[in-house]
Amino acid sequence: MHRKKTTDYFKYIAFEGIDAAGKSTQAKMLSNFLKNEGYDVFLTKEPGGTKEGKAIRNLLLNVDLPSKARTFMFLADRVLHIEKVSKLLKTSYVISDRSLFSTIAYQAFGEGLDLDFIERASLFSANNIVPDITFVMDIDTSTIKNRIEKMDVIESKGKSFFDRVKKGYEYIAKHYKNVYIIDGERPADRVFEDILKIWNKI
Ligand SMILES: Nc1ncnc2c1ncn2[C@@H]1O[C@H](COP(=O)(O)OP(=O)(O)O)[C@@H](O)[C@H]1O
Ligand SMILES: [Mg+2]
Repeated sequence: MHRKKTTDYFKYIAFEGIDAAGKSTQAKMLSNFLKNEGYDVFLTKEPGGTKEGKAIRNLLLNVDLPSKARTFMFLADRVLHIEKVSKLLKTSYVISDRSLFSTIAYQAFGEGLDLDFIERASLFSANNIVPDITFVMDIDTSTIKNRIEKMDVIESKGKSFFDRVKKGYEYIAKHYKNVYIIDGERPADRVFEDILKIWNKI
C-alpha cells in the first residue's frame, strides 16, 4: 500500500546520473506510478524546464562555450526553474530530470572547477532548495556507448570525465540527505523495482 502520509513529505524528487544512465526512463516510470496512485505529478528537467530556460538549453547544446561560461548558464537556468518548482510543489509532486547536483558532479568533479564555489553557487541558484529525495542512476562508464547512438558524447568528453562525474555523485550521496545510488545496469523494470522499494520505505 502506498503510504500517503510519509511519502507526502518527499515531494521534490530528482533523478541524477551520467549520460544514458536511465534518468529520463525512470523519471517517467515514477511519474506514471504516482499518477496511477491518483497524485498530481509534474515531470520537469534541467536545463530547459522553463520557457526562458529552453533558450538557455539550446545555447548550451549548440554553442561550444568554455566551462565557466556554461556553469553560469546552468545556474541561470536553475534560478528560473526553482521558482517554477517551488510553485508546483504546493500542489504536485515534482519529478525533475537533473537538479543542482548535476552542476556539482559535472562542473566541479567532471570539469575540475572549484568545488566549494560550485557547491555554494549551486545552492544559491536553487535558493537552498534541494530535492527531498534523489535517485542517482549508476552505470559503468563503458555502458554509455551501448545505449546511445551519439557515440561522440563519450568520445568527446572521454571515459575519465564520466568516471570523475561518478565520483561527484558519490560525494553528493555522502554529503546530502536522502540521496540513493541505484544500480542502473539491470533492465529498466528491475531498476524501477529498486526505486519503489526505497520509495515505500521512506
Ligand atoms: N535499464 C536500462 N537498460 C538498458 N537500456 C536502458 C535502460 N534504461 C534506459 N535505457 C535506454 O538507454 C538510453 C538512455 O536512457 P535515458 O533514460 O534516456 O537516459 P538518461 O536520461 O539518463 O540520459 C535509452 O535509449 C533508453 O531506452
Ligand atoms: Mg535523459
